[in-house]
Amino acid sequence: MDARRRHAELVRIVEEANYRYYVLDQPTLSDAEYDECFRELGRLEAEHPELVTPDSPTQRVGAQPVKELPSYTRRVRMLSIENCVAIEEFRDWVQALKDFLKRDPGPFFVEPKLDGTGLELIYRGGHLETAATRGDGTTGEDVTAQAKTIRSIPMKLRGEPPALLSVRGEAYISKKDFEAINATLKGERIYANPRNLAAGSLRMLDPRITAQRRLDFFAHSFGEIEGAEIGSQHEFHGRMGGWGLKGCPGAKRCAAPEEVEKVYADLLARRHDLPFEIDGMVVKVDDFRVQRELGFRARSPRWAVAWKFPPTQQTTRLNEIQVQVGRTGTVTPVAILEPVPIAGVTVSRATLHNEDEIERLGVKAGDKVLVERAGDVIPKVVKVVEDGGGKRFRMPASCPSCGTALVREEGAVSSRCPNARCPAQVEQGIRHFASRRAMDIEGLGEKLVAQLVAKGMARDPADLYALRAEDLAELERMAEKSAGNLIAQIEASRRRPLHRFLNALGIRNVGERLAEILAERFGTLDALMEAPEEEMLSVEEIGPEVAKSIREYFARPDVRDMIERLRAAGVEPQPFERRTGGPLAGEVVVFTGTLTQLTRDAAKARAQALGAVVGSSITKKTTLVVAGEKAGSKLKKAAELGIRVLTEEEFLSL
Ligand code: IVH
Repeated sequence: MDARRRHAELVRIVEEANYRYYVLDQPTLSDAEYDECFRELGRLEAEHPELVTPDSPTQRVGAQPVKELPSYTRRVRMLSIENCVAIEEFRDWVQALKDFLKRDPGPFFVEPKLDGTGLELIYRGGHLETAATRGDGTTGEDVTAQAKTIRSIPMKLRGEPPALLSVRGEAYISKKDFEAINATLKGERIYANPRNLAAGSLRMLDPRITAQRRLDFFAHSFGEIEGAEIGSQHEFHGRMGGWGLKGCPGAKRCAAPEEVEKVYADLLARRHDLPFEIDGMVVKVDDFRVQRELGFRARSPRWAVAWKFPPTQQTTRLNEIQVQVGRTGTVTPVAILEPVPIAGVTVSRATLHNEDEIERLGVKAGDKVLVERAGDVIPKVVKVVEDGGGKRFRMPASCPSCGTALVREEGAVSSRCPNARCPAQVEQGIRHFASRRAMDIEGLGEKLVAQLVAKGMARDPADLYALRAEDLAELERMAEKSAGNLIAQIEASRRRPLHRFLNALGIRNVGERLAEILAERFGTLDALMEAPEEEMLSVEEIGPEVAKSIREYFARPDVRDMIERLRAAGVEPQPFERRTGGPLAGEVVVFTGTLTQLTRDAAKARAQALGAVVGSSITKKTTLVVAGEKAGSKLKKAAELGIRVLTEEEFLSL
């Protein structure tokens, strides 16, 4: 084959692979095959420089750094959107539309409002010509070289593209990539949130740095379009796909405002499970004719509103930095805050992780700080807003609970209390043992555990089973009846399933999920305690580090002694059994396509919680397929095999 034809073919193969991987989330080439094609393309272009086209995937990376970003002035201004937060404000907006039109505005199109940075792409004749940031709306910065490094941005549109298209959207980064990239920036300036990282990375003077930042892009609107007729926002969303661009993930058409309200409530509840940060949703009147009728206010269209979520950050005073000793002896500094309500919960403590984090934040007692509550995680201090002039924090030299000198091992980020009998550690260990997802001993609360440990009545979890109602009745705030109830609860915990027992032990690196895997694989406590390292390593999810912590744990004389005493007290973990109840009991589920409402991991966990086994490829054993957006070959195979298929929505409603 001649060089020119081979070049064109390689360009097509590589760009197709980019599209499949980055836009559809359905890779077809293996990494090795992709790399091979890319290298061949590079070699070919080195031999025949005249073949290099601007659309060649080799042109995505490697552009030289510039001294400053050129400015770019657009013809159609990028607007902003009016905000609302309360549901009444949203209803007022709908009412205003009705008043203006003197009729119903018709269906809405709802898109999650991704927290990224605005980016406009200009395609002429289907070729990417310019990419520019929002700037002040009219004049932004030309970031074409930087944008080309984003693989979900096509260099050339697919299908039959319009003669001119200026498409607008957001460059963003997933939460996972945000964490990963920040981790590699340790020591350098790290970014406070995914939005800042996306904005900073897109405006890098050296596009090779942008290339390493794993940015993604989706389109939500357009400025100019010539040579295509589009009648509505949902049609636009569909057309994007045909041109190889990604539309807003999780977008939906809603027939009526009530439906929009339901989507809002649902998104608000699930925002922390989504793979990317969202700060609300954008509601647009779907029909473009109605949009034109509604027109614009000074800076924003009348036909759209950004319905934001209540803030998850607040400022408050940091009164004191205390240190707290965890179950494994790790010492964590904790910020004691002036109580402040954040999204419905009063926050009075926040984690500061470790000394390095305090150093990085430059935080001291007395400062005014910005505090964030994200999902179920413990609130954290984001940054100092105002210096209170206090003294710098110093990690104490000895354990605040037992007075033992703290140690900080080489390379460790945290200090530890090395005393395994440290009351704080024992207390945390017992609390964990009794917690709901472990041995589930109801009524054994924080205060009670503290008393038991302080009075020497419980030195480890095994002692719980030796407690008598008379002993308990002597404790503060313990009536006879509740003492009896607690004893009954402790009794009842003797025959919990093995995976809960393993979780309860609090072995380093063994959380709930791994406890289940171990219980399933080894069946009994004895089998696990005696398992040689090779056998553990043969389990896919167990790496050398985990195997080591398990072995070390069961080799400890105090642990052996405790297990003896637990057994003597009649604690007999029950063999692991797959959950049988649940709406998906007995089903073997495979996920395919792009899920828009939750991450793959969250979806899998959900399916398992409903009783299903999750598979990765479609086989004869598969009984159910959940198809996200743009599901392809797997969906076809499922249809061929006559397997039941659910949409993401249907799956979520189970
Ligand atoms: S539509 C005139 N849709 O939010 C309407 N904007 O507050 C143009 N944003 O500047 C924007 N996700 O950068 C739209 N699904 C979405 C969005 C979105 C995020 C950003 C956008 C805009 C800002 C408006």
